[in-house]
Amino acid sequence: MDKKKFYITTPIYYPSGTWHLGTCYTTVICDAIARFKRKQGYDVFYLTGTDEHGLKIEQKAKEAGVTPKEYVDVKVANLKALWARLKISYDKFIRTTDDYHEAAVKKIFDKLYEQGDIYKGEYEGYYCVPCETYWTKTQLADGKCPDCGREVSIAKESCYFFRLSKYQDKLINLLENNEEFLLPKSRRNEMINNFLKPGLSDLAVTRSTFSWGVPVSFDPKHVIYVWIDALMNYVTALGYAGEDDTLYKKFWPADIHMMGKEIVRFHSIIWPALLMALDIPLPKKVYGHGWLLMGQDKISKSKGNIVDPIELADRYSVDAVRYYLLREIPFGQDGAYTTRAFLSRLNADLANDLGNLVKRTVAMVNKYEGGTIPKWSGVKENTDDEIIRLAEATLDEVAANMDELHIPEALERIFRLVQRANKYIDENAPWILAKDETKKGRLADVMYVLLECIRITGILIEPFLPDTAAKVLSSFDGLTAEETTFDSTKKFGSLKAPAVIERDAIFMRVDVEKEIKDLESKIEEAPKAEEAPEAPLPPEITIDDFMKVGLRVGKVIAAEKMEKTDKLLVMKVEVGKEVRTIVSGIAKYYTPEEMVGKQVVVVANLAPHTFRGVVSQGMLLCADDGKGGIVLVSPEKAVRSGSEVR
Ligand code: MSP
Repeated sequence: MDKKKFYITTPIYYPSGTWHLGTCYTTVICDAIARFKRKQGYDVFYLTGTDEHGLKIEQKAKEAGVTPKEYVDVKVANLKALWARLKISYDKFIRTTDDYHEAAVKKIFDKLYEQGDIYKGEYEGYYCVPCETYWTKTQLADGKCPDCGREVSIAKESCYFFRLSKYQDKLINLLENNEEFLLPKSRRNEMINNFLKPGLSDLAVTRSTFSWGVPVSFDPKHVIYVWIDALMNYVTALGYAGEDDTLYKKFWPADIHMMGKEIVRFHSIIWPALLMALDIPLPKKVYGHGWLLMGQDKISKSKGNIVDPIELADRYSVDAVRYYLLREIPFGQDGAYTTRAFLSRLNADLANDLGNLVKRTVAMVNKYEGGTIPKWSGVKENTDDEIIRLAEATLDEVAANMDELHIPEALERIFRLVQRANKYIDENAPWILAKDETKKGRLADVMYVLLECIRITGILIEPFLPDTAAKVLSSFDGLTAEETTFDSTKKFGSLKAPAVIERDAIFMRVDVEKEIKDLESKIEEAPKAEEAPEAPLPPEITIDDFMKVGLRVGKVIAAEKMEKTDKLLVMKVEVGKEVRTIVSGIAKYYTPEEMVGKQVVVVANLAPHTFRGVVSQGMLLCADDGKGGIVLVSPEKAVRSGSEVR
């Protein structure tokens, strides 16, 4: 029999700015859902990617002195590295600069034009000349450009429009009569009352004031509006309007488009209207989750990089980060990040409840059973019946919660079993049973029941915490594939492995107060400006001495953190025609993303030096910031890379 299909998507990410914990939210949620469905036996396609066109990217690249493609290439590489670190199991990563996507978008646009859903008209709006941007009246700030604060003037230009208004009634019908299409419910009401009922205008779907986009094939002065280009990714990634549409035929329509609430409008109004125009079936569900509010926390506020997901993962493990995101924020609502809540979750659920259950049980099996997993008699005493029923029911309850997208509740349900098992240890006091020869059989059963609960937990947490699941299950020696399937969790007694193995603690308990103090002291350690000591001047040198230093302007074209240290960045720096590798101790002050595109001053004739096996061919100039940190020295205006500094 054919496997059931499941297609889930994240929005495609803008490859600009820096990534923080909140940015990872959608992707981690989708990853848990995708992994869960795979374990349930579905044929899953999990899509993510990057949204690379548009004025913003064009401007950022210009500021950085690189081409838009050079700019996004580095950002995309950094984003992929972040997803790899967080164990994101996507099946495809689409980039809107991929050739097949651009070709398909052009084709789709042509079709919509030919059938009359796109027409040429005139766009009129408030135009800011320096920013080359149109604004609507409501977007203006005190009648001026909201970006630069300068005067705007009414301007007109020719532009193509999509007949969005034509689909208004159909869209109202869709949202009102298909309760599953847009969730949570509050977002549906918002779309109907704030956007659809007041009336839809046709949508300007091309721009001609910048060029970084997919050109309209029959009028190449115009590029296609970035949102039209971006939304199409959900079908072009599957080969729609391309050379091979097998995946499209197999997986479309999407089961879930997941996203943050701020972009629900594009997905529940513009996207279905485009699909209606193209006569493509609609996705089954659009879900707009809430935001992880950053910057509410004293630590994250004063030291932004504490909420760098990689730093958190390095310090407390990837699964601590995943667990926090999946468990702490009520799904669908906003939640504020605090370091205290993050650490408390880690301690209470992961280190205390789960970590201790595994540690204590394996230690007892070693002590009382010589490490051998006893056979289960099947005789039930005390609360055995209750814990067994709870364990056997867990999968179905977790699955029901996952189907409803009640993600924290699904995890909570698994941890209920963990807590019940801890209580079971206290209720049965194995250390007392061990003192009584006649209770040997009962002791063996108690050990078996506990190990079964651990096996079931290990299997069920895999979609949420893949590393932890592997660690938990590695406590069993000789576990077979049949003993790790979802189905096997529904039949208590499926555990057949012969022995346990004692492993390192799954999670280390952290001292919350000490951690917070430690993180805070890192901020406070920095001397205040007036206290910062002035460095003494070295002895005088002649101009000839100075001329021996070969200073050149370089441009950072790629950057990444050096492994196993939080101080060093390894960068590729273009100096004139050469590209050099330069290692610099600036990782605490600049993220790799911030460095890419920056012009820097390089000591270009410095003898090479090796840092942890990487040869650094030069040094970047930096200035003390007077607070214990450093800032980069850069030319005041962009200059040619390789320019001499004198
Ligand atoms: N490029 C558009 C999407 C186009 S889809 C056809 C975009 N990109 S984004 O990079 O700004 O956002 C990507 C995802 O990250 C969105 O789902 C967004 O809601 C999510 N988040 C970014 N910051 C977030 C938080 N602080 N909290 C939760 N999610 C957040 O929008």
